Amino acid sequence: MSKKTATGKVFDFGVLWKVFKGIGPYKNTFILTGIIILSLAFLSVVRPFLIKNGLNNAFENNDASILIPYFLGMLGVLMIETVLQYYQTYLSNLVAQSVTLDLREKLYRKVLKFRLKFFDKTPVGSFVTRLISDIDGIAQIFSNGILTILGDIVKLIVVISAMMFISVELTLVVLIPIPVLLIGTRIFQKAIKKAFTEVRNQANKINVFTQEHITGMSIIQLFNREKREYEKFKLINKEHQNAHIRSVWAYAVFFPFVELLSATSMALLLWYGAGEVLSEHLTIPALIAMILFINMLYRPIRMLADRFNVLQMGIVNAERVFTMFERDELLDDTGTIDRKLEGNISFDKVSFAYVEDNYVLKEIDLEVKSGETVAFVGATGAGKSSIVNILSRFYEFQKGTISLDDQDIRNYTLDTVRSQISVVLQEVFLFSDSIYNNITLSNKDISREQVIEASKIVGAHDFIMALPGGYDYNVKERGVMLSSGQRQLIAFIRAYVANPSVLILDEATSSVDTESEELIQSAIEKLTKGRTSIIIAHRLSTIQQADKIVVLEKGRIIEHGSHKELLSHDGQYKKLFELQFQESP
Ligand SMILES: Nc1ncnc2c1ncn2[C@@H]1O[C@H](COP(=O)(O)OP(=O)(O)OP(=O)(O)O)[C@@H](O)[C@H]1O
Ligand SMILES: [Mg+2]
Repeated sequence: MSKKTATGKVFDFGVLWKVFKGIGPYKNTFILTGIIILSLAFLSVVRPFLIKNGLNNAFENNDASILIPYFLGMLGVLMIETVLQYYQTYLSNLVAQSVTLDLREKLYRKVLKFRLKFFDKTPVGSFVTRLISDIDGIAQIFSNGILTILGDIVKLIVVISAMMFISVELTLVVLIPIPVLLIGTRIFQKAIKKAFTEVRNQANKINVFTQEHITGMSIIQLFNREKREYEKFKLINKEHQNAHIRSVWAYAVFFPFVELLSATSMALLLWYGAGEVLSEHLTIPALIAMILFINMLYRPIRMLADRFNVLQMGIVNAERVFTMFERDELLDDTGTIDRKLEGNISFDKVSFAYVEDNYVLKEIDLEVKSGETVAFVGATGAGKSSIVNILSRFYEFQKGTISLDDQDIRNYTLDTVRSQISVVLQEVFLFSDSIYNNITLSNKDISREQVIEASKIVGAHDFIMALPGGYDYNVKERGVMLSSGQRQLIAFIRAYVANPSVLILDEATSSVDTESEELIQSAIEKLTKGRTSIIIAHRLSTIQQADKIVVLEKGRIIEHGSHKELLSHDGQYKKLFELQFQESP
């Protein structure tokens, strides 16, 4: 994670520009906010001048009632300022939140299409940080950043000009502490930037850690790791706290320092100003106006340092978010063929590696005719699920060709491949939603009748109806409320209602009870009937009827043939079969 902007510049204007391109539809609101902020900067000097002129007038005429119209004027200005301030806050935040809403949507939409390889190497928590807090940081660029900084700078110029207008000499005396303030601000800015970056990094760490450990809670408890994990968490939490404290410390030193300098300015003003009044170079009302101006001077300077940091952090965040945007993690989807598949599949010398050169599938040759059922067996890690991964185009294979109905699989659109090849993954994933929605995945084309019919065919209808709420039963996160056999059946229905040309079943490794096993087996028979099917089986009982059985070992096909053929010679399949046959009585 980059702590600085990649270019090392204080401000990376390139990134800032990209952020600003997001303003598009909100440009008018943004400009309006800018106008309001500038108006506020100019309005701020009106009241001290009204006080000065009013008092002058009253003193000259020895009549306090002259002040009344001045006070009314001040009241009027104050009301205008209040209204403008309301709009400034409201509109700048509106722009900020609108831009971030768009960014978040765009980023999420893009990530939805990322190749799975990306997710293998990106911790979920860190992605959550990108999408939530980093984008929040970008919002700050608009709500607290660029325009407010511009407003503050204009305000400074206006206030100093107004002071000069009253007395150049006095203004210069009053400004003596300013160089010290500028140096102090610079030091503060650096310190706070470091602290902020640290806070961000620690926040990300806490996110990643918590997310991962909550997901893996059962393992932690199973292996009695609670204490160790708690200690680890305590450490990360402590570092998180330290980072925050360091940032607070910088403020704790800086703010009193500014107060000190502001008081020095005030002292200089009173000392020098009193002399000027006595020598009749300055009126008392003018001195009062100067006092008011000094207060106006220091506030924006104090805020400026802070706002520059916010802006800088926003830019660092934006940079991270944009790197995510610019990642080329999209699957190649240049194929154009979109037609109903017959279901002929052929592998021609296909080799595949997840990580460079570490091939997990080697020169796979295979023919599956339309309507056939082919089963894959082999030891764990042999590469069975990897076949599924490349056939459904989750991952890209490096060598050889896979053809569907005599056309390279890459010539089809991804949509075609995904909609006509249904996969029941080895690890069934259910969303925290109703059973019904988990089956249809919110596809409105699938009717309730179809779902129920499919469940009856698969043999899951009875157990679903027995649940409270039936098809509307909420399975909670990752389907924890169901057994693994039940989850598998839901996944079968999900595949069945999609009515695919090719069906791939990657059987769950975890053992299920005999009742579920029987259900699953009969479900598989019904699902595979009449369509090209690839079954990855851990229980060999499931696949004896298959047209062809393929034995994989270390990424290579070592045997293939029907159940009978394979048993007739002394190969790996026979060994596997005998092993399982002995195991299960
Ligand atoms: N996402 C991944 N990134 C890198 N390597 C992977 C990934 N998934 C699997 N592998 C590796 O690829 C090899 C084949 O794994 P695969 O999942 O295909 O095995 P399998 O035959 O399905 O095993 P099992 O019977 O346990 O499901 C293994 O050595 C595994 O470590
Ligand atoms: Mg597997």
